[in-house]
Amino acid sequence: MLRFMAALTFGSSCILVLCYQVLTADVCREGHYVAAVYEHHVILNPNPTAITDRQSALELMNRNLDVYEEQVMAAVKQGAQIIIFPEDGIHGFNFTRTSIYPYLDFIPYPLSVKWNPCKEADLFNDTEVLHRLSCMALKNQVFLVANMGTKQFCTHSDPYCPPDGRYHFNTDVVFSESGTLIARYRKQNLYFEYAFNIPPEIDYTIFDTPFAGKFGIFTCFDILFYEPAVNLIMQHNVKQVAYPTAWMNQLPLLSAIEFQQAFATAFNINLLAANIHHPDLGMTGSGIYTPSKSFAYYDTESFSGKLIVAEIPVTSEHETHLDNEIQESFSSIHMDTQVCYKENKKACDGIAKEVSKEAYSFYGEMMYDNFTLRPLTEPKGDIHICSNTLCCYLSYQRLALSDELYVLGVFDDLHTVHGTYYVQACVLVKCGGVNYTTCGQEVTEANGLINFQLKGNFSTVFVFPLLLRSGVTLDFADYLGWKNSYYVMQKKGGSSGLVTAGLYGRWYEKDK
Ligand SMILES: *[C@@H]1O[C@H](CO)[C@@H](O)[C@H](O)[C@H]1NC(C)=O
Ligand SMILES: *[C@@H]1O[C@H](CO)[C@@H](O)[C@H](O)[C@H]1NC(C)=O
Ligand SMILES: *[C@@H]1O[C@H](CO)[C@@H](O)[C@H](O)[C@H]1NC(C)=O
Ligand SMILES: *[C@@H]1O[C@H](CO)[C@@H](O)[C@H](O)[C@H]1NC(C)=O
Ligand SMILES: *[C@@H]1O[C@H](CO)[C@@H](O)[C@H](O)[C@H]1NC(C)=O
Repeated sequence: MLRFMAALTFGSSCILVLCYQVLTADVCREGHYVAAVYEHHVILNPNPTAITDRQSALELMNRNLDVYEEQVMAAVKQGAQIIIFPEDGIHGFNFTRTSIYPYLDFIPYPLSVKWNPCKEADLFNDTEVLHRLSCMALKNQVFLVANMGTKQFCTHSDPYCPPDGRYHFNTDVVFSESGTLIARYRKQNLYFEYAFNIPPEIDYTIFDTPFAGKFGIFTCFDILFYEPAVNLIMQHNVKQVAYPTAWMNQLPLLSAIEFQQAFATAFNINLLAANIHHPDLGMTGSGIYTPSKSFAYYDTESFSGKLIVAEIPVTSEHETHLDNEIQESFSSIHMDTQVCYKENKKACDGIAKEVSKEAYSFYGEMMYDNFTLRPLTEPKGDIHICSNTLCCYLSYQRLALSDELYVLGVFDDLHTVHGTYYVQACVLVKCGGVNYTTCGQEVTEANGLINFQLKGNFSTVFVFPLLLRSGVTLDFADYLGWKNSYYVMQKKGGSSGLVTAGLYGRWYEKDK
């Protein structure tokens, strides 16, 4: 009943507010809202470690804010009710603690005062960026989420206060459609950002909207950790997440759109993810994700930004793609295509099948982790491989003639390079070439079509399903879920070659 009434409220506010403004667009479907994310090609300071003054810093930031202003208008024209901008999109990155200082706005703390920076510009000093963002939200009557640098002064009575008497925070700010600053989130899991401090206490930030209820918010690297992301979603039963990021893609398992989709599916939420667009730095990949549908953007060729606007349901009902009948094994499927490929000529000749069925495994480095790998040597088969307490099982059938090498991989250990976090992963990946030494390399193109069931006996319930095809495009599994103590992913066919199928588990308790 409560839910029904809530749905009615969203529906009517949509009609009153939105259709009134956007008469042309068909954007008022009941229980839906229109979201926008902007993948911004940030105009960078060419020399971020040099010391500059506030005036020069503002000049650079205003150039980025000019682009934001255009995009807010474009998004609202398409019916957007909320727009998300990426992390570091206004000031850039690679600063030192000293060189970032002129780029920081003051933000009142705690956020107890109701403050509209556009209407009350003179209340605090050093709030020019907040002022511009607030005016964009007000002028366009849209919720706006952006990331910026903020400063907060502290005294030595605060045991965490840095020696120079101020905190620098990597901060997401949220404005309501009237321009009021309604929330701020200070990034917890900094990614080698020496210019910034970790907040003295963890922010669990949520904000309310009239069109989709409450949103959670966190930033970039946070997506891999329990605090605050997972805790926030579970404690507050969050169904919408705004996610500014500046993510450097890392194949085969951690390309931006690949993990963004996996996160939305795993938590059954909508994720609005805005990344930086700097293909030269490995940064591209943004999208609007529901648990079962993705509006994703990935482009390494273009050098301009990209606005994504999509209408999505506030909450997704039961996911149909999880309902399909689970299949125990593909071994019984009739093979009408004979598959031959270089590593396994013998199998094609029908000789020495015993040799290739023999348990053969090797080690390969994938994203700095030492995976145990086993090749797919047959046109079809059932193989498994274990490491520590995790066993991964693959039942497969190769569909197309392809001499590409694929491996089943397992990793169950602490990841220690560029961050420390415990990973349990079962993956099916295409190798860089036909030599076993190429397995784990970054691959973006593939022809191999494979029917498969991949499963593992994970020790964590937090398993992120990855499914990436040729050209770094996304796909969804036919079946996903727990079956006894195994997490299972199943997929038949596909529209293009398989690059990665993965079950990426995060065992947060073992992060230490
Ligand atoms: C920033 O630093 C990273 C790592 O130190 C480097 O790879 C990147 O090229 C730098 N980017 C810019 C724009 O200076
Ligand atoms: C802003 O800065 C000016 C000049 O430093 C100072 O006189 C003024 O009191 C400050 N205003 C506030 C609200 O802090
Ligand atoms: C990977 O792990 C195996 C088993 O522990 C070990 O023998 C091998 O040396 C490791 N390889 C690397 C590159 O660390
Ligand atoms: C996973 O399965 C293997 C093989 O049966 C077993 O040795 C291991 O203990 C299992 N792991 C868990 C967490 O149950
Ligand atoms: C595979 O690559 C390794 C290292 O590059 C090389 O030593 C080896 O000869 C290659 N094997 C084949 C079969 O090409």
